[in-house]
Amino acid sequence: MTGSPGPVGVFDSGVGGLTVAAALRRRLAGEPVLYLADQAHVPYGGRPLEEVAGFARGISRYLVDARCRAIVMGCNLSSATALPEVVREMAPLPVLGVIAAAALRAAAFDPARVGVLATEGTVATGAYGRQVRAANPAAEVVEVACPAFVPLVESGCANSEEAFDHASQYLRPLADRDCRVVVLGCTHYPYLLPVLRRAASNLFAELPVFLDPADEVVGALERALPGLRRAGAAPPSRLLTTGDPARFAQQARAFWPGEPFRVGAARWTPDLRIEAVPTLAPR
Ligand code: DGL
Repeated sequence: MTGSPGPVGVFDSGVGGLTVAAALRRRLAGEPVLYLADQAHVPYGGRPLEEVAGFARGISRYLVDARCRAIVMGCNLSSATALPEVVREMAPLPVLGVIAAAALRAAAFDPARVGVLATEGTVATGAYGRQVRAANPAAEVVEVACPAFVPLVESGCANSEEAFDHASQYLRPLADRDCRVVVLGCTHYPYLLPVLRRAASNLFAELPVFLDPADEVVGALERALPGLRRAGAAPPSRLLTTGDPARFAQQARAFWPGEPFRVGAARWTPDLRIEAVPTLAPR
């Protein structure tokens, strides 16, 4: 098939991966994104790891069938559970996760006292601890599961007092160990930065650096696929959800202001494949 190269495929359980898609579009203005939010299953964080890996495989296959030129797992838990097998299955198509580049960057801090805030599932895999220590065996890593955060972000309460209280609770063990860098190990968490910074200012003697893996993964994508366009007009990004498209359109407008996009619906088939749902009426 000829024609323009396909979009970059990005996916997550919900709105979190939009932080990755937005970072990608900021750096690569000429590249459109095809985004899939698996809101039928959000949150992923408390689910069995093998179930989440199955979702990541199904979504990745859909993105490849939709002619994506690369896949970015905009989801830490998918990256922690499914990345190596999806990389193998899709080769030579570039498939990237969000953990590796962020772990490398965190490991380079001096002193390397690294805090990681992530979902229960990502913490259970130990992926960040392993990858940070592989890069810097002297690094100290404190990983804290934050089960309240994703539901708060998905329901539009990222700036609430409830979010602040949870942020204070989750950051305390990191402050006790005087972590110098705090990795936002779930792509929903950058939306919580205002409450995280406010909570941290009460807890840390010196404010830590909050590390958002999104920028790191865009750099890794550019290295994997040279020639991605930093300039030029791209067609509007296409956003699909396995949840309610009207609600997702509203969320995307709030979480990704200024980005032109079209929103549609997708659904899971019984054999764990994704299919786009055709829109009924032309607009
Ligand atoms: N945003 C995802 C991550 O980075 C998943 C969050 C969830 O659904 O629990 O891990």
